[in-house]
Amino acid sequence: MGGESVFLLSLLFLLLSSATACDRCVHRSKAAYFSSSSSLSVGACGYESVALDFNGGFVAAASSALYREGVGCGACFQIRCKNTKLCSNGGVEVILTDFNKSNSTDFILSSNAFMAMARNGMAQEIKKLGILDVEYKRIPCEYKNHNLSIRVEESSRMPNHLAIKFLYQGGQTDIVAVDVAQVGSASWRFMNRDYGPVWSTTRAPAVPLQFRMVVTGGYDGKWVWAERAVMPAKWRAGSVYDMGVQITDIAQEGCYHCDAEEWK
Ligand SMILES: *[C@@H]1O[C@H](CO)[C@@H](O)[C@H](O)[C@H]1NC(C)=O
Ligand SMILES: *[C@@H]1O[C@H](CO)[C@@H](O)[C@H](O)[C@H]1NC(C)=O
Ligand SMILES: *[C@@H]1O[C@H](CO)[C@@H](O)[C@H](O)[C@H]1NC(C)=O
Repeated sequence: MGGESVFLLSLLFLLLSSATACDRCVHRSKAAYFSSSSSLSVGACGYESVALDFNGGFVAAASSALYREGVGCGACFQIRCKNTKLCSNGGVEVILTDFNKSNSTDFILSSNAFMAMARNGMAQEIKKLGILDVEYKRIPCEYKNHNLSIRVEESSRMPNHLAIKFLYQGGQTDIVAVDVAQVGSASWRFMNRDYGPVWSTTRAPAVPLQFRMVVTGGYDGKWVWAERAVMPAKWRAGSVYDMGVQITDIAQEGCYHCDAEEWK
């Protein structure tokens, strides 16, 4: 019982703390770029080379307010620079894959994403500037060729210890709770967030496994169920398993101060 109420309290806390972010508002900040691409192939969210498959390699490291101790991993943002001579109106769409606690910028973009903010022919100009005034807002992630998926992490030591990483999380939501059960069983066990998109349990049920997640969506949390056998009996560490569902929800926090604000 104790465990359950702690779980519910932390769930409530997570829902409340994500509800205060108002991240679909337009924010003003600065953005820079990574001069070496090696920093992006690692990344605090642990996506490693999979990140290059997310969005044409248009990825970003973000400040702690956006990284949110890893809850922000996989979130999508539209960013444009404010110099209308050099920068296009639409800007660029990036996925958060890393943390960078720079004082002066909210984002450090992959260099291809940074240059993609430019008008035609202006990419080298903005690269020379190196750091730009930008506007940004959180947008829904769209994966046309992927369902929400899990990667079984190498740290998994079945039968007891299971660690998974979520990939290709659509919508504009956070995953705030994850349960796992043997296929056909109603005996769900909750998993804990290790960091970013990685969740684990030391009380894994017997394989094959099904999963259900609570995501922030609408004005509340909602369950997303992957009722199929997502993780087969003959699973392999490092393999990616399709959950057969995708998230398309948009979390609707009350952002009164910006609800009328348009990005023209
Ligand atoms: C943050 O980004 C800067 C600029 O690219 C880089 O020099 C620094 O190493 C990064 N810090 C971390 C913790 O990745
Ligand atoms: C960041 O800000 C803190 C406090 O404002 C300051 O102590 C620190 O030196 C700054 N770091 C950089 C790299 O500017
Ligand atoms: C997503 O899952 C559904 C249901 O299993 C499946 O029909 C569809 O092909 C999957 N989509 C992708 C892009 O794999």
